[in-house]
Formats: sequence, structure tokens, C-alpha cells
Amino acid sequence: MKRKIVAGNWKMNGSIEQVSKLIEGIVSQVDEIASQGPEIIVCPTFVHLLAAKQKINAHKCALGAQDVSHFNKDGAYTGQVSATMLADIGCKYVIIGHSERRQYCGETDQMLADKLTASVEAGITPIFCIGESEQARDSDTTEDVIKHQILAVLEQCGHDVFSKCIVAYEPIWAIGTGKTATPEQAQKVHAFIRSLLQNTQAQLAEIPLLYGGSVKGDNAADLFAMQDIDGGLIGGASLKADEFIRICQQAAKV
Ligand code: PGA
Repeated sequence: MKRKIVAGNWKMNGSIEQVSKLIEGIVSQVDEIASQGPEIIVCPTFVHLLAAKQKINAHKCALGAQDVSHFNKDGAYTGQVSATMLADIGCKYVIIGHSERRQYCGETDQMLADKLTASVEAGITPIFCIGESEQARDSDTTEDVIKHQILAVLEQCGHDVFSKCIVAYEPIWAIGTGKTATPEQAQKVHAFIRSLLQNTQAQLAEIPLLYGGSVKGDNAADLFAMQDIDGGLIGGASLKADEFIRICQQAAKV
């Protein structure tokens, strides 16, 4: 049985005070759950990473960032944060290619491949996000979109780098909308991703596959029970300590 993974994507939310309260709420309950199996990760903004790190240090909770520069060496790149810097302050994970970054920041497949490579070289595990729009789902092209998103990046960064990733399937129509994919809908796409990866290279079938999109304490158990769903990437519900903990508890039960 693979270890389940639950990652909280806090997006652009909160002050130092709010983030500190949130993390205190999580760490007060996290150790018991994590000792039952799941890997629990929190991903604050860059400016809140250090405050979060200080509070989770003695606990079974890992730190992740929400993005990383595609440049992998120090240099004249104003505003960028490198994978080496993230590793230096204790990040073990980084979210790459979230649909909000693809949409608002124009991230290309080449940039995403470079981010994956830079992160893996720095010893950080990328949580690589993919997912179709509502229009793609309605026109029955979900699998084409997913296939393109994976292969375009995999061909650039190579199998070795990709094999060290986690993939998060996040249908865009389910993100922040309250419209969760049903466990069956999510499982169908996860099974497709698993077989696509396996057919590309057998070893890639071992990559953990997370589901993201309106996961809550109430629906997490049914999603996590699916054969090819290895955990969740949680947005809105990760901003409330009790709700996030409820989701982690579901991951510990399956
Ligand atoms: P949501 O976001 O849980 O608020 O739908 C998930 C995500 O964007 O990672």
C-alpha cells in the first residue's frame, strides 16, 4: 500500500499572523495522523515559508513552495526564487504548473520542464499539475489535453527527472468552484494517466497521482479510496486547520 500524500496549497492568502495561526492549528493535530502513514505538506507563499518552517520544524509536516524559477543559477533575474534557495530554507516540495500560473503567468511547457529539472537537481520533489478546462471536458477531449500536458513536459525534462515527480490531476472546472469531480470521474482520468506513464516507461507507473479540485473533509474519503488516487492537493479547504486535518484523517484511514 502506497503512502497517501495530502498537500495544502494556500495560494495568495493571509498575513504572517493568519498564517501562523493556521499552521499552529495544523501542527497541534498533525503528528498523530502522520504517524499513521500519510505525508502531509503545507505550501504557503514565498514570504510566509520561513514563518511556517519555524513552526513545523519539530512536527511531522513537510514544507512546499507554490512555484519556483525556471532559471537554476543565481543571477540577474529580478523577482525570481530558485530551487536551490527553496531547498536552502527547507522546502521538500514545490507545486509546478498549477492552472492558475499557466493562465495568469503564461507558463509554457518548456518553462515547466525547466522548473521540474531545476527542482529535482536541488533535491526538491515537484508536484506537477495538469488538468482540462470545462470546455475540453464538454467536448470530450480531456484525455488529449492530459496526454499533451504530460508528454510535452516529459520529452523536455526526460524520464529521470519526471520519475521523481508527483503528478496532481486538477480539472480546472473543479478548482475553487465546489464542483468536485466524482470519485469515478477522477479515477477514470487517474487510470488513464497511470497507463500513459506506464506505457512511456514502466518505472513511471510508480509516480504518486494526487487529485485536486474542491476536495473537502466530506468527499475526501471516497476520492482517496479510488485505486489510482494517491492523495490530494487541497486549495480552499486547506485554509481552515480543522477542515484540512479532517482531510488528512481520511487519508490515514484508507
Ligand atoms: P480547491 O483548489 O481545493 O480550492 O478547489 C485546489 C487547487 O487549486 O490546488
